[in-house]
Amino acid sequence: MDLKHTNAVITGAGKGIGKAIAVQLAKEGVNLGLVARTASDLEELRAELESAYHVKVYTVSADIARRDAAEQAVQSLIGRLGSLDILINNAGIAQFGTVAEMEPELWESIVQTNLMGTYYVTRAALPTMLAQASGSIISIASTAGERGFATGSAYCASKAAVLGFTEALMQEVRKSNIRVTALTPSTVNTELAANAGLKIGDEDRMMQPEDLADLVVAALKLPPRVFVKTAGLWTTNPQ
Ligand SMILES: NC(=O)c1ccc[n+]([C@@H]2O[C@H](COP(=O)([O-])OP(=O)(O)OC[C@H]3O[C@@H](n4cnc5c(N)ncnc54)[C@H](OP(=O)(O)O)[C@@H]3O)[C@@H](O)[C@H]2O)c1
Repeated sequence: MDLKHTNAVITGAGKGIGKAIAVQLAKEGVNLGLVARTASDLEELRAELESAYHVKVYTVSADIARRDAAEQAVQSLIGRLGSLDILINNAGIAQFGTVAEMEPELWESIVQTNLMGTYYVTRAALPTMLAQASGSIISIASTAGERGFATGSAYCASKAAVLGFTEALMQEVRKSNIRVTALTPSTVNTELAANAGLKIGDEDRMMQPEDLADLVVAALKLPPRVFVKTAGLWTTNPQ
């Protein structure tokens, strides 16, 4: 399936995995609506992609953990793009601490961003896709959503919930030709991983954001009659 001239919204596009997906989709000729809280990251990327790949790029600085902000961001980007073919739910945060020690406010903010943000953004995008009876929604979950680990209660719970949300949504909308996918990467070489202390040893041997972006493009290019339900991406030779 040719992606040229389709329209995509990507959350968390300012850096890391979201930025890599934005670059790969721009290379395919996809027009983009980018969301993150830091406006300067988005502005820099917009200028880079518009000049390198001659696609239209619109940006909104918004906190998707807030329902009104998430809805306004999605509606404004769909309005400017004219339609919506692809939604990438990527924005997410990770912090770790034991259940006994992590402050409830931090625990809540992780779930609010990773789960509620994904729900708010998806809900805002759905009417457009349902009306046109087509579209692809890809949510970046994590191996942390498949199995828990010590100090990961908030992050693991949020990502397990994203997997549950995504599968339920898939069952609701597949009859409307909307393809819903959850990806479960293990550690990816980004700021999030560095801040969590997950970058150890040789960075070149870690999974790179571009590797995940390649999988996203491959999934989107499948014929519209099929979709990837879930896919995990792991490193070949973990250190
Ligand atoms: N890196 C890994 O090892 C790994 C593994 C599995 C899954 N994942 C998942 O992959 C996704 C991307 O992770 P990453 O490693 O690329 O992280 P990253 O490098 O920290 O980038 C995260 C992006 O999301 C944005 N963001 C965060 N909170 C937001 C909010 N409330 N509203 C809007 N934008 C927000 C950030 O920008 P602002 O801060 O400017 O808003 C940034 O652009 C996350 O969902 C993460 O859980 C990561």
